[in-house]
Amino acid sequence: MIRLFVNVDHVATIREARRTIEPSPLKAALLAEKAGAQGITIHLREDRRHIQDNDVRIIRKGISTPLNLEMAPTQEMVNLALEIQPYQVSLVPEKRQEITTEGGLDVCSQEKRLSEIGEKINGRGILFSLFIDPDAKQVDASKRIKADSIEINTGKYTELESAEEIEAELERIRKSAKRADEKGLKVFAGHGLNYENVKAIAAIPEIEELNIGHFIVGQAVYGGMENAVTEMIRSIKMGRGQQS
Ligand code: PXP
Repeated sequence: MIRLFVNVDHVATIREARRTIEPSPLKAALLAEKAGAQGITIHLREDRRHIQDNDVRIIRKGISTPLNLEMAPTQEMVNLALEIQPYQVSLVPEKRQEITTEGGLDVCSQEKRLSEIGEKINGRGILFSLFIDPDAKQVDASKRIKADSIEINTGKYTELESAEEIEAELERIRKSAKRADEKGLKVFAGHGLNYENVKAIAAIPEIEELNIGHFIVGQAVYGGMENAVTEMIRSIKMGRGQQS
């Protein structure tokens, strides 16, 4: 079964719109767990626009499933991760002005720096993952620097409109997933996924974990967190060919 990690960043986005205490990302994470999420993901951005340092500590202590901490490969973030000790650290590129993560990490151009970070993370027993575009060069570089896993960026796939372009991008994702799996890397995916477009991604057999946030939090506004997570799990199972 493919695991769903629910990203609760945007619960914090709503809270930070008023700089108050509600809604609580921890409470949302607990509801996601209750509905069957196998893990929780949060992205501590350098500008702290949604998740705050204290959220990371509170969520780490409060949830009973694994915590996946997404962060930029900076010294400040590494220090924080080593202190808080999540189950997994996922390195993502970050640009100050972007609305959301715009692309995968360029592992090839910074192998030395990223492998040093990986050693520190692994040294504390924390899994080390890299968010990359579906590109053979990035997969190979991720293996060279001894990552435990890659998370394939599905952002481009979710934004394309023509059927041909979508299929071409899906093929790149499938090939990258297969290549990574053959090299012994665990394969995850995420970005921009919803109830429909998740199905073709869930059908890729090498993918074992999905990180989904914005769409689930959006749907939770209409029907509650538990319903949104339940519905997403149903879509994932359909895509995987495990009708429930
Ligand atoms: N994976 C990574 C590395 C991300 O940065 C994000 C967005 O924070 C996600 C997955 C989840 O994307 P979305 O919020 O579009 O579901």
